[in-house]
Amino acid sequence: MSDTVEPTDERARRDAYSAPPGVRIERLPVERLDAIEPLWRALLEHLVDLDSVVPIRPPDESWPKRKANYTEYLEEPDSLLLVAVRAEAIVGYVMVHGQEWDEVWHTSPRFAEIETLSVAEGERGKGIGSALLDAAEAELERLGIDDIVIGVDSVNEAARLLYERRGFTVGYHLMHGRLSDRGKPRSNERPRPAGEATKVEP
Ligand SMILES: CC(C)(COP(=O)(O)OP(=O)(O)OC[C@H]1O[C@@H](n2cnc3c(N)ncnc32)[C@H](O)[C@@H]1OP(=O)(O)O)[C@@H](O)C(=O)NCCC(=O)NCCS
Repeated sequence: MSDTVEPTDERARRDAYSAPPGVRIERLPVERLDAIEPLWRALLEHLVDLDSVVPIRPPDESWPKRKANYTEYLEEPDSLLLVAVRAEAIVGYVMVHGQEWDEVWHTSPRFAEIETLSVAEGERGKGIGSALLDAAEAELERLGIDDIVIGVDSVNEAARLLYERRGFTVGYHLMHGRLSDRGKPRSNERPRPAGEATKVEP
């Protein structure tokens, strides 16, 4: 992987990204982080619905820590928090964390991790997630960041396929074990810990 990014036809294509009709994409200032809390909760609920192998933390516990992490990420000059807005409502966001090179993976001097991509349930499948990724990638290219990593829950096949269609490939598996579960069934039948996030009906 090279340390510099040359302009390419692909880059020109991404610079010309367009959001679906009626949707605009813009940066969200750190002071307005609470505006994306519902979308963070929607992502957790989605993972509960998919029966994530690793239990999902209750949203009330999760959000304050997530918010603190986002605040820290946004101190990096090349981190990006982009939101999709329809009729003044935020309907999706992508949080990109710019980071210094890693001592194992030979990447560009700075690389980016897509920490979160979430679209409101009723707005999925309309091109908003793709538009957020297009906008983030165009901005990262402009910043000279060539390498991007994204963590995907192992049960989230739709998201993995979306990233694969965009040219991402699985480069790392994060394994999970729980010592107290050794020898017990490891499947959907496994009892869930008390307090795990549960789907909240609207
Ligand atoms: C994954 C997610 C961000 C994608 O955003 P989106 O706005 O729904 O996606 P788009 O409308 O841009 O669709 C992108 C592609 O994914 C496909 N897709 C999206 N959701 C899908 C689903 N649930 N099942 C199958 N395909 C799906 C679309 O068909 C489209 O395919 P194409 O590129 O070949 O046309 C959104 O569905 C979401 O928020 N899901 C729940 C949270 C989540 O899983 N986040 C990702 C965490 S890694």
